[in-house]
Amino acid sequence: MFKRGRLGHLTLRQLETFETVARLGSITRAAEAMHLSQPAVSIQLRSLAAAVGQRLTEPAGRGIKLTQAGHDLYQACSELAAVWSRFESQLDEGAALRRGRLRVSVVTTAKYFLPRALGLFVQKHPGIDVELEILNRDGVLARLRDRLDDLHVMSAPPLDWAIEAHPFLDNPLVVIAPRAFQAPRRGELRLADLAGERFLLRESGSGTRMAVDELLARERVRLARRMTVGSNEAIKQAVAGGLGLAIMSRHALSEADLPEIRILQVRGFPLLGAWHVVHWRDAHLSAPAAAFRAYLLEFAAELRGDAGRAPLRASVVDVPRARGGPARGASPRRARNP
Ligand code: PGA
Repeated sequence: MFKRGRLGHLTLRQLETFETVARLGSITRAAEAMHLSQPAVSIQLRSLAAAVGQRLTEPAGRGIKLTQAGHDLYQACSELAAVWSRFESQLDEGAALRRGRLRVSVVTTAKYFLPRALGLFVQKHPGIDVELEILNRDGVLARLRDRLDDLHVMSAPPLDWAIEAHPFLDNPLVVIAPRAFQAPRRGELRLADLAGERFLLRESGSGTRMAVDELLARERVRLARRMTVGSNEAIKQAVAGGLGLAIMSRHALSEADLPEIRILQVRGFPLLGAWHVVHWRDAHLSAPAAAFRAYLLEFAAELRGDAGRAPLRASVVDVPRARGGPARGASPRRARNP
């Protein structure tokens, strides 16, 4: 790898001494900084110049200045230092990923894909202990407020908190109905056409509920019959059983649900939001947290099938492709307030 030659005669200590002298412009100051005697510094500089075969410094006033070869060597030293420090951080990161803890809280709707991403991540890094909390949006925000976790996943991060929120996957909301549902009219439906039906809504505090409430307010639609049900699973069962319609994330539906439930074509749907991975702006991300955040982006690309591999067969079905990926913070369903 290394050509045998001058390098064989150099020591890293000599290079370090030379770099300090060059940076401080004085042998005396370099000796002080390195806790060495002046003659010790001079001897190292002389051996280095002998190994290189050229003068590296020349006297200038009370200090020294670099010759052309000295400048070139100083440049090479800076590059070496950068390469070495990259290598050291790789070592540290590798060690930190061999053991460690990762705490993640996610909204209930993300449980249809997030645990799978965590599972695949832990297969790569088996030494990492994971703690996963699944709560509705209000619950996740409370944990974020109390700084209980490294990372949080939700689709509508609050706009006025000092957080960093990275979008990594579209979250399409769809209108679902029992398979046998007869639409009130032919052709394209509008939400207002369905206002007479019973709607099953998530509890307040849920991100899905917030998105639905915002949509109803925006479209000025009043639902005649509403029923609150506190889980996506229970809502799917109730819809399949003919109790009413619902609006929910496409990610909460699997192939197994589709014989009993159908997705209605309604104007303005799917209503696109984006899943975000969130942490405080001032948080120092641990190596496992930083690695999992990066892994989520990779995972999302695989879910969509645009990582050059076939889409993952998760419970997620037919995820629409993000058009160039949602812009950061530009999610149409992003909440103004928690
Ligand atoms: P939820 O949140 O599971 O509380 O409804 C969903 C979301 O953030 O999109």
